[in-house]
Amino acid sequence: MDGNGRWARARGLPRAAGHRAGVETLRRTVRAAGEMDIKWLTIYAFSSENWSRPKSEVSDLMGLLKLFIRRDLAELHQNGVRVRIVGSREGLEPDIAALLVEAESLTADNTNMNLVVAFNYGSRDEILRAARAIAMDARAGRLDPDTLTADDFAARLDTAGMPDPDLIIRTSGEQRLSNFLLWQAAYAEFVFVPCHWPDFGPDDLAAAIHVFAERDRRFGRVAQEAVS
Ligand code: IPE
Ligand code: MG
Repeated sequence: MDGNGRWARARGLPRAAGHRAGVETLRRTVRAAGEMDIKWLTIYAFSSENWSRPKSEVSDLMGLLKLFIRRDLAELHQNGVRVRIVGSREGLEPDIAALLVEAESLTADNTNMNLVVAFNYGSRDEILRAARAIAMDARAGRLDPDTLTADDFAARLDTAGMPDPDLIIRTSGEQRLSNFLLWQAAYAEFVFVPCHWPDFGPDDLAAAIHVFAERDRRFGRVAQEAVS
């Protein structure tokens, strides 16, 4: 979800107005994804690097997250959406930490759709935390480094048990991953759309999925027609 600030600037509005419009887009995107029967939707809400933004913007973003959970959790639950949070929980304000736990526990048994919120998330941080946990287990004799597999490693990531993303969409024309799901995106398809996040609509989501459907995913193998 990129481009809230530029969207606001283009309208002579404060950045906070862009973030508020972005939350509206998030609501309609989750609804649209549900209608399209998408089972997993991950949103990059706040990165571990976003703390270095001006204090007032960080507090605007925190306020919006709290508002989103308080205002939308009931509807998400009603629609059978399971909410999960990935990212570090270390050092979060107690009220935010409590809301994250509440969102996860209230919706834990829902199966219609999974909404994964990457919050205080940074992929390097996630990988480092996993590596540290593995090293601790090895040191304690609970794990043999010689037999460690990629699946064992993935099981220590915040996304343990979740499928890797098939499609990653980034709005606002930027073409980079910015520390998002580095491990999990190994074979993801990328679609970069020029519009800023507040302008992203269900039609843009459908168009991105259409582009995705046309891609030839080989996962390191050769194309089907090349096999004789
Ligand atoms: C995304 O928009 C907001 C989040 C942190 C989720 P930006 O705030 O990055 O907007 P630009 O990039 O400044 O336009
Ligand atoms: Mg940005």
